Amino acid sequence: MSDWSAIEALPQTRLTELFEADPERLGRFSLDLAGIHFDWSKTHLTPELVTAFAALATSRDLAARRDALFAGEHVNVTEDRPVTHTHERGEGAAEIVAVARGYHDRMRQLVDAIEAGAFGPVSHILHVGIGGSALGPHLLVDALGREAGRYDVAIVSNVDGMALEDVFGDFDPAATLLLVASKTFTTTETLMNADSVIAWMTEAGVEDPYGRVVALTAQPDKAVEWGVDETRVLPFNEGVGGRYSFWSSIGFPAALALGWDRFEEMLEGAAEVDRHFRLAALHENAPALAAFADLYYTQVRHAETRAPFAYDERLRLLPSYLQQLEMESNGKGVTVDGQPLGRPSAAITWGGVGTDAQHAVFQLLHQGTHLVPVEFIAVIEPGDTLPEEHHRALLNNAFAQGAALMKGKQADDPARSYSGDRPSSTLLLDQLDARTLGALIAFYEHRVFVNGVILQINSFDQFGVELGKEMAKAAEKGGGDFDPSTTDLMKRAFG
Ligand code: F6P
Repeated sequence: MSDWSAIEALPQTRLTELFEADPERLGRFSLDLAGIHFDWSKTHLTPELVTAFAALATSRDLAARRDALFAGEHVNVTEDRPVTHTHERGEGAAEIVAVARGYHDRMRQLVDAIEAGAFGPVSHILHVGIGGSALGPHLLVDALGREAGRYDVAIVSNVDGMALEDVFGDFDPAATLLLVASKTFTTTETLMNADSVIAWMTEAGVEDPYGRVVALTAQPDKAVEWGVDETRVLPFNEGVGGRYSFWSSIGFPAALALGWDRFEEMLEGAAEVDRHFRLAALHENAPALAAFADLYYTQVRHAETRAPFAYDERLRLLPSYLQQLEMESNGKGVTVDGQPLGRPSAAITWGGVGTDAQHAVFQLLHQGTHLVPVEFIAVIEPGDTLPEEHHRALLNNAFAQGAALMKGKQADDPARSYSGDRPSSTLLLDQLDARTLGALIAFYEHRVFVNGVILQINSFDQFGVELGKEMAKAAEKGGGDFDPSTTDLMKRAFG
């Protein structure tokens, strides 16, 4: 008997019937934590499924794996190192927390120094980084930095020069501070962009361009070698993975834009979820329940994708942030022991912003043949000052979509019928502040972890990105053994 068979054997009941059969259903599958209301009642989770998933999680040693994560053991087995993003929030092994605190102190001192004018006038922050060294800080600044207005912040990731040129058009080189964010300090795109910013400053007559650089990295020596003075290198622990890194110095643009107090509140919000994840029983553990639903759909109902929709303009970057977090963490075909996974890996994460997405992709969600678990993320307190009808309409649309997906509607005309029974979950935030955003992201991180443990995947490496990098480097050097199609494309582009 496979260890999934107990789960697969359970009856599949329509969502509306689950609600009819159990008056306690809403209470059973919703909970409140750190300013967020989690509602998983419109998924097909049942008490029996949760029990079966909890048994599977136990057979995978979830509790021990979770403890090992917080204890700083080498849970990233393929790279033989600990995973220390929770320690950045003060949760976990004391000695690792102490190192992170030391690094945070340096960040804080530099925030203060910049504010006190140590770099002369600074009105523009230009952050270059890619992947986890851009998506997290970008989400934070975009979500929370709008009204802070302390600096103009641009986050540039693409090696396409148009991305930098757009910023050059708006920024004053003499009042710009360059943040070079790269965990490894070897990433081609980031270093090329950083070099081009230095060239732009130099051409504009900035006296000491390297003196206006702060490096955010786990490889301080490499940053110094590149030209940054070590007093302006903000290190972080090697155990912090790129997609888990905005709690570290990679979050420096957010600390500058929002102020240090907000940055700390974000860490505290995340720490609250860390403690919940450590201590709550599985049947009331938000990240675990969410992961059980994820796994039910990917493994039992064969859903290939999942789609979070942010019903809040401030969270418009959340879906792309989650794409990296979920797909780079759990998009793998082998287990921690190097065996073929033999089952689907993580779902493909896609999504968008409501209400826009309703007028573009929701057709498929309501009537397409694919099963797509949908997630609504909304905020009760509006971010805008327009008449309240805007925010009411926004929230009512989110709620109505979830209801429509579940309920469906029969009509004589099949083209106008809706099958219903389509699952969704809702995360309803009281307000969008630093604390709540920190909590929200920590929730997603732990959900990814539980998915990985149950699938027996190492969620913390990303070797899948290496081959493409190697081949691009070979192409840049004019070498590489390429197929006829690729060779022809190169010839057409470069002659
Ligand atoms: O290529 C993937 C990746 O390694 C991501 O995991 C990472 O977030 C990104 O590149 C950037 O890496 P770095 O911070 O080392 O520049």
